Formats: sequence, structure tokens, C-alpha cells
Amino acid sequence: MVEGLSPERAALPLKISPSILSGDFAALRQVAADMELAGADMLHVDVMDGHFVPNITIGPPVVKSLRSATDMALDCHLMITDPHRYVESFLDAGADIVTFHAETATGDPDVARKVIDACKARGKRVGIALRPDTPAEACYPWLAELDMVLVMTVYPGFSGQKFMADQIPKIAAVAAAAAERGNAGVDIQVDGGIGLATIAEVTRAGANVFVAGNAIFKADNPIAAVSAIRGGAVAARTTPVG
Ligand code: DX5
Ligand code: ZN
Repeated sequence: MVEGLSPERAALPLKISPSILSGDFAALRQVAADMELAGADMLHVDVMDGHFVPNITIGPPVVKSLRSATDMALDCHLMITDPHRYVESFLDAGADIVTFHAETATGDPDVARKVIDACKARGKRVGIALRPDTPAEACYPWLAELDMVLVMTVYPGFSGQKFMADQIPKIAAVAAAAAERGNAGVDIQVDGGIGLATIAEVTRAGANVFVAGNAIFKADNPIAAVSAIRGGAVAARTTPVG
């Protein structure tokens, strides 16, 4: 076991969530089939509204199509303003995990309450995402009841950006705060610039769910890339530092 990880975190399953944003949107059925074959644990669906982030991607109709194309869990990362207005649409479309941004609930805790309650009422998982400039504390009011916290390691909006190592302490802070609140087993997801060069440090800090876009879909062999990234996480979990 790696020094520093609590026994609960060191026992959590390691999950790979390929971000289809880096895949071929004209071939999503094949993307899903490839990732299933690769043994990925879920598919990461980046939803951007051109308002919360300066990019526009996809919405519930595409989630619905993916739902009919795969049995894999659909991990929907909502980078949208007013997530409480759209959460039901994503759940109806077949989302298994809905992650919304803490910044969208600033000033109106009702936003978070509505999204969390909507997901729980349907037996679905719910997470809160933190932009790089948002402190860990922003998710603490809801941390005890969350299934996942997403620590962004790039500014949300685009795939293929450089990993921000200065976010690593936030992973450990969330892990410690979750344990204090009786939720030591919360999934901690990292997203942005994750690949073979960065997987070890985020795993050692306590992350157990890894989003990867370019590191998988821009690789020569995306199926093999999933195994390689998983291997990197397993190695980091089981190899003593130094
Ligand atoms: C960025 C998205 C990420 C992104 C990851 O806003 O949330 O999921 O697609 O892509 P890479 O792994 O290439 O940074
Ligand atoms: Zn994402």
C-alpha cells in the first residue's frame, strides 16, 4: 500500500472513464464498443453549453443515442449553467452519473439540492466538480452525501490541455474532508491532462476515477491505451514511493 492513502482509499476500485470528446463524434457507437472491449469502466460525456465554458459540445439526445449503443455507465460531466434545469433531461436520456459544477451553485444552494435530489430519487449517482480556481471547500456542504467529487486538472472547456500539477493537494484535501464527514469511500475523479505521465501522482494523492481524452483517443491504439493507463494507476497504488 502507498504511504499516505487511508486504508479505505487504498481499497477503492480504480476506474477509467474515457472522454468521448476526444473521439470521433461520427462514430460514437464504435467508440463505445472499443472502450467496452478495452475494459473501460464508464464513458465520460462532456456537456458544454457555451456559457459556463467557452465551448459547445453535446446534450441529452446524444446521451440517449449512446444509451442505446452500450451498457457501459454514462458519466455525464455537465459544464453548464443552471444544471438543475437540465438534470431530469440527462437522467431521462440515460445518464448513470451526473456531475455538476460547484460554481453553478454559488449563491444559490438550491441548485445543488435540486440536482442531488433528482439523481438520488432515480437511484443514480451524483458528483460535484471543482474548477482549478475553486477551493476544495466549495463541495463540503454536500460532501457527506456525494458519490463523487471531480477535481479538474485543467480549466474546463477543451480536451488536450496541459495537466495542472498544482491541483494535486486538492485531491488529498477532498479525501481527508470526505473521511471526516463519514464518506471515506467517495469516488474522487480527476479530469484534464491525465495519461501515463500524470497517472501516478494523482493516484498517490487519492484519486480513483480517471478521465482521459487525448491520452486514449489520440494514441495509436486507443484500446491498449486504456490498459496502459490502468496499469499506471495500479502500479502507483502498489509501488512504494522513492
Ligand atoms: C475538459 C473536459 C475533459 C477533457 C479531457 O473540459 O472536461 O473531460 O475532455 O481531455 P484530456 O484528457 O485530453 O485533457
Ligand atoms: Zn470532463
